[in-house]
Amino acid sequence: MVAGDDNTPGGRRRHARRVKIASLATHVPPRVMTNADLEKLVDTTDEWIRQRTGIVERHVVDPGVGTSDLIAPAAREAIAKAGLTPDDIGVIVVGTTTPDTVFPSTACLVQHKIGASRAWGFDLGAACSGFTYALTTAAELVATGSHRHALAVGADVMSSILDYQDRATCVLFGDGAGVAVVSPAAEDEPAIIDFSHEIDGSGGPALRLPAGGSLRPASHETVDQRMHYVHQDGHAVFRFAVRKTEEICRCILARNAIDADQLDLFVSHQANKRIIMSAAERLGLDAAKVVINIERYGNTTGATIPLALGDALADGRLKKGDLVLLASVGAGFTVGSVLLRWAF
Ligand code: UT7
Repeated sequence: MVAGDDNTPGGRRRHARRVKIASLATHVPPRVMTNADLEKLVDTTDEWIRQRTGIVERHVVDPGVGTSDLIAPAAREAIAKAGLTPDDIGVIVVGTTTPDTVFPSTACLVQHKIGASRAWGFDLGAACSGFTYALTTAAELVATGSHRHALAVGADVMSSILDYQDRATCVLFGDGAGVAVVSPAAEDEPAIIDFSHEIDGSGGPALRLPAGGSLRPASHETVDQRMHYVHQDGHAVFRFAVRKTEEICRCILARNAIDADQLDLFVSHQANKRIIMSAAERLGLDAAKVVINIERYGNTTGATIPLALGDALADGRLKKGDLVLLASVGAGFTVGSVLLRWAF
């Protein structure tokens, strides 16, 4: 795998091992919340939500279900699909914004639930870039040779931090999980090619959960002021997401001397259909190469990219050997991209 710490051509580091995504599995809770359901909760319409976002429905958990409960079945399935057992997993990297609890980490809960007796792991906070960053982190740990198999997870229960009195945010998100097994690739196997990530902390105020952390611990006041929910400046995030999705994609393509039209599939974070399509148009990508499944799941934060990859695999659009570009922009701001050849 080639590392992304230097955005200049030729400024790249090469590890000993090539690394691939060996398998993928996803899980969403069974309960579906439609736009019509939301019309009963807030002053919104199915037409507004579809036109402005592309979302038709999303899956949401029942009370008592946490992020680790969505990850565990996907992890078991991904491990089995890779022909492995939980004992083969060396490290679990969970990209999530909605851990079951502040501590213990969701990685620890998943390790216990799936019986990955030899794994260590940790949670990684990158909001909507949770999967791209977890994938890169897991891949780097396998590439160095310190681990043979890793789990890269993107998962969120966004319904746990949504204000169902705020129509500007509650219609946007859903719950879900995706797990990739990351393993060494043989010389002749398709593999992960490159990544490029950035953060820009000046964008923090545009998308945040104001209370519940060390700065503003939970109190009657923070609850009364509805500070334990997602707060977003939608316009600022929209503008940043369109600009940076294009920019990070151009960067990673240029330094690998790949033209956008050589890509087989573009799998972007699913926050808004309009963001994805305008980034794809700016990149000159054929719409047929752009995966969009936001209509079924809404924005599941860390889970959108694995859910989109899973759907593309299921409908035959994603095949072994395909050149795939993943891209994400999220709270922080975090920006990510991973270029890979699909391995199965
Ligand atoms: O994963 C990364 C995180 N998030 C994102 O990437 C989201 C980025 N932002 C967006 O996707 C869009 O900005 C939104 C979908 C959040 C909003 O779409 P918009 O086209 O920017 O709408 P707007 O905020 O300009 O609002 C237009 C109108 C407003 O009414 P007025 O002021 O024109 O009378 C809003 O109050 O739509 C109103 N509105 C709604 N109306 C019906 C806002 N939310 C709703 C709603 N239903 N749910």
